[in-house]
Amino acid sequence: MRTEVAIIGAGPAGLLLSHLLAADGIDSVVLEVRTREYVEARIRAGILETSTVDLLDSVGLGERLRREGFEHRGIYLQWPEERHHLDFVDLVGRSVWVYGQTEVTKDLGKARDADGQQFCYAITDTELHDVATDRPHVTFVDSDGAAQRLDADVIVGCDGSFGPSRAAIPERTRQTWGREYPYSWLGILADVAPSTDELIYAWHPDGFALHSMRSASVSRLYLQVEPGTDIAQWSDDRIWDALAVRLGHGQDGWQLTPGPITDKSVLPMRSVVAEPMRHGRLFLAGDAAHIVPPTGAKGLNLAVADVAVLAPALQALLRKNDPGPADAYSDTALRRVWRCTHFSWWMTTMLHVGPDPFDAQLQQSQLRWVTTSEAAAAGLAENYAGLPLEL
Ligand code: APR
Ligand code: PHB
Repeated sequence: MRTEVAIIGAGPAGLLLSHLLAADGIDSVVLEVRTREYVEARIRAGILETSTVDLLDSVGLGERLRREGFEHRGIYLQWPEERHHLDFVDLVGRSVWVYGQTEVTKDLGKARDADGQQFCYAITDTELHDVATDRPHVTFVDSDGAAQRLDADVIVGCDGSFGPSRAAIPERTRQTWGREYPYSWLGILADVAPSTDELIYAWHPDGFALHSMRSASVSRLYLQVEPGTDIAQWSDDRIWDALAVRLGHGQDGWQLTPGPITDKSVLPMRSVVAEPMRHGRLFLAGDAAHIVPPTGAKGLNLAVADVAVLAPALQALLRKNDPGPADAYSDTALRRVWRCTHFSWWMTTMLHVGPDPFDAQLQQSQLRWVTTSEAAAAGLAENYAGLPLEL
């Protein structure tokens, strides 16, 4: 097989990149280790920044999102006895949209089908070769068990945090920064109408809690738990009881309505940034290059911003013989990556409870500051809702 751009990974980064490239008349093949059904059912975060929504709109992917998604003006920040609303639209003129990554992935899949995109799902043994030359290629075993070779002008690793692409950049030219946080999230999906109109981020001495949502009848909620938590220790009743306490059930008459839990999982919290995001004819995008903890919901938005910068850079490289934008890709993308890495770390450390009571005092002071100082609130709002695609 031969194509112009071999894309490894059919998550949002890989699918959106193939879509943007096709709009510029560039061929790609998308290789994915999972089945399509798995990829389109995977539960992930669900907050889209204004710039993400604008980009999806501009390439014909905004229709269902506008119809079924929810536009939120801001978020609630709270701690025991106090809840404050931050209105991002008033603060920075931008909103966010609640629309699950799962739905974005399905919309992308449909659009790529309509365009005749070539996919290989359920492959194994993905290997990258000769990425520093002009003749890079990928070998893999297809879903029928046949060995395949895909030759390309460029390979883009959109294969998430466990894929092989990052390691195809030689260790001597690569640098990785990271942090493991000493807590995890227990996430649930529940068939119950959200008990709030906008997301609630709650600091509580028992640990952080978040009330999010997927639709008018499906809620998504999270609890801070110990790393390595065994989900079997958390019965549905225990989860709802902890959520009620941490989210302030009864506070000023607010009520948390429990409902049937349809999914439970424990998510580790970590930050990773790998530099550079390009080596020869290999480019990295999305989780393949960086991971953020979910506080602030930046993962998907960062993946979208990467490919929004990469697609025109590849077009310049492959169609105009202009290597300038491709040479600048890593530095350009990393400016936003580090901004979001800082913001996700900042939100995470402001809201999660640790063993040191000194930290708890600082956190409460910081929460009071971001909810009472317009300058501080605008800083949070700008990062949460308002970053431009290129910084
Ligand atoms: N060969 C082919 N595909 C692979 C391989 C491999 N060896 N290894 C992993 N993949 C696939 C994964 O199965 C997954 O479908 O790469 C895809 C990567 O997709 P995502 O993990 O969704 O990453 P990305 O597209 O960068 O999207 C970032 O996803 O993890 C969330 O929080 C993150 O919201 C952010 C978004
Ligand atoms: C989610 O809805 O899954 C979600 C929302 C906000 C976050 C993280 C996750 O900060």
